[in-house]
Amino acid sequence: MMNDAIAAFYSGDGHLADMIAEALRGSGKDIAALKTNDLNVVDEFHIRGRNATLELAERMRLDDKSYVLDVGSGLGGPARTVAEVYGCRVTGIDLTPAFCEAAATLTEWVGLGDRVDFRELDATDLPFDDDEFAAAMTIHVAMNIPAKDKMYAEARRVVKPGGIFAVYDVLQGEGGEVLYPVPWAREPSISSLATPEEMEELLTAAGFRLLEAQDSTEASQRFFEAMTEHMKKTGKSPVLWRTFLGDEFPEMARNQVRNITERRIRTVTYICEA
Ligand SMILES: C[S@@+](CC[C@H](N)C(=O)[O-])C[C@H]1O[C@@H](n2cnc3c(N)ncnc32)[C@H](O)[C@@H]1O
Repeated sequence: MMNDAIAAFYSGDGHLADMIAEALRGSGKDIAALKTNDLNVVDEFHIRGRNATLELAERMRLDDKSYVLDVGSGLGGPARTVAEVYGCRVTGIDLTPAFCEAAATLTEWVGLGDRVDFRELDATDLPFDDDEFAAAMTIHVAMNIPAKDKMYAEARRVVKPGGIFAVYDVLQGEGGEVLYPVPWAREPSISSLATPEEMEELLTAAGFRLLEAQDSTEASQRFFEAMTEHMKKTGKSPVLWRTFLGDEFPEMARNQVRNITERRIRTVTYICEA
């Protein structure tokens, strides 16, 4: 039931790929000549966008022979970025059918269909073999998942020993309860944030060795401040997340400025070794 509510939250109100194509055309893009970079305004659906994905990928020891899992792949931006930059193969899994379908269409638009694929699956119960992947990543996903122990145990099982599991997530800060709506939930019933202390415990208990923990909250604050400033000045958003988040998006962005400034949330990256 919770998974249905999560999928409904992210699915938007119509055929996603068509809505994204329309929004991209509206910002002057030619769908027939799209580059991966042109999609970043919509498909890197997390704080600090493509830059954050590139920072994470740099730590994942990837090359063109790597087979990588993206847990909670959304519209597939991070999966395509990693496949394009490192020449590797990536499988993305996500529980929202509308996102998986749109992710496949966007991948065809930019010609990466031979190296990137998406499957509709739950991060807490994966059908992959033990040690199937050289590395895995997850970006802004666990905040919808109460059973984080199961999610990380599955990641540990499918990444081969010595491989990297890179986690970039939104965590509960010390500044109080989250103000809703936010870009991952309209209200608290589908939101479940761990504190930094809990995250370290969870990742270690799943069997990972924690190599690095990096707090990016200040950079995240600047990201949302710049976004809301741009919206105030121009009346337009620099990202096209409204396509699926709907008309509440400006309020979500304003709440995120407060949530981050008041440290109700933090963003932290964990580089873990299986
Ligand atoms: C904020 S989006 C981030 C998408 C993508 N990682 C990105 O950074 O562009 C969160 C995603 O997590 C997915 N998700 C939430 N719970 C999940 C679960 N239990 N298993 C798989 N995916 C899940 C949602 O469907 C959504 O696509």
